[in-house]
Amino acid sequence: TPLASLHFNSPADLPYQVEPNPVLRGSQFGYNICNSTTQNQQSLCQTMYVNHLDDFCLWAPDKPNSTIADTEGEEVAWCTSNKYGTRQIPAGALQGVQLLTAPDYTLISGFIDQTQVNIQDGDEGGELDPHGQDLAGNPMGGIVFSNALSGSNTTYLQVPEWNLFIGSGTFCLKICPDSGPAKNSAGFCRNTLDRLGCFYNSPANPVKGTFEACDSANMDLPGVYVVNGQTLTYTQPAETVPIGALPYTPTVPASSNCTPFASTDLYAALASVTGAPQGSST
Ligand SMILES: *[C@@H]1O[C@H](CO)[C@@H](O)[C@H](O)[C@H]1NC(C)=O
Ligand SMILES: *[C@@H]1O[C@H](CO)[C@@H](O)[C@H](O)[C@H]1NC(C)=O
Ligand SMILES: *[C@@H]1O[C@H](CO)[C@@H](O)[C@H](O)[C@H]1NC(C)=O
Repeated sequence: TPLASLHFNSPADLPYQVEPNPVLRGSQFGYNICNSTTQNQQSLCQTMYVNHLDDFCLWAPDKPNSTIADTEGEEVAWCTSNKYGTRQIPAGALQGVQLLTAPDYTLISGFIDQTQVNIQDGDEGGELDPHGQDLAGNPMGGIVFSNALSGSNTTYLQVPEWNLFIGSGTFCLKICPDSGPAKNSAGFCRNTLDRLGCFYNSPANPVKGTFEACDSANMDLPGVYVVNGQTLTYTQPAETVPIGALPYTPTVPASSNCTPFASTDLYAALASVTGAPQGSST
């Protein structure tokens, strides 16, 4: 079953691995049952959460100095919280974060010292999403939940469509729930523009040193643009063909009700993991 077609009602329903059967590129690297015994900086938890500005996770490598391209199938969860049985993002790694809550998606984007989450300095990174050539996802078996969808902070619903671009010191993490009014989670979380990065897939204006949560209008669907009144859809060329000049520039959707925060208020719990050893042994 394709990863994006697996549905779980709650984290408690997850099996040890959601992709237990090896595919050509191998077996699921980590596991999906995560708890206090897996809450450490060697955790191989592959279940993550996208809740709010102060409570989200990223996918990043197991071992220091890795590139996303080399490890895309194996990323593990790194979170701001210490309650999901994952690694924690070290204090100071997040250098500016903006949450945009739009009708059909939630987008958390910003700046990160990526070496603190095991990504090689200067690595341009790439896209992680629940698809991939064999449909087992990148990371394979990566599952995402959110408590921002039900109106109750204690109810975690799975979000089958999501994507994360991380690299070059930036990240953008988007979840596209089925419950959006446009009923177009695959469109808003389109996964076929992986060479174009954050601005074309998830336009936003995060600012270094600023931490804020805003309401937002929907973006235009990724790759969809209008020329002379005609609506066109951009298709990314084959891997061997240079991208060249793009025929459009995305528009950052209007945002409102922005609330600023101090990073120390948002991520106070992270101080405790500074300097913790990263990466599993071997
Ligand atoms: C905690 O998670 C580990 C790793 O997935 C699993 O082996 C173990 O059974 C879990 N413990 C409980 C009590 O669920
Ligand atoms: C990271 O890996 C690169 C390429 O393998 C190497 O040149 C560099 O010295 C490494 N950096 C660190 C900090 O280990
Ligand atoms: C839900 O979580 C958000 C963000 O963490 C918080 O601002 C809000 O007060 C919480 N709501 C309730 C009802 O606890």
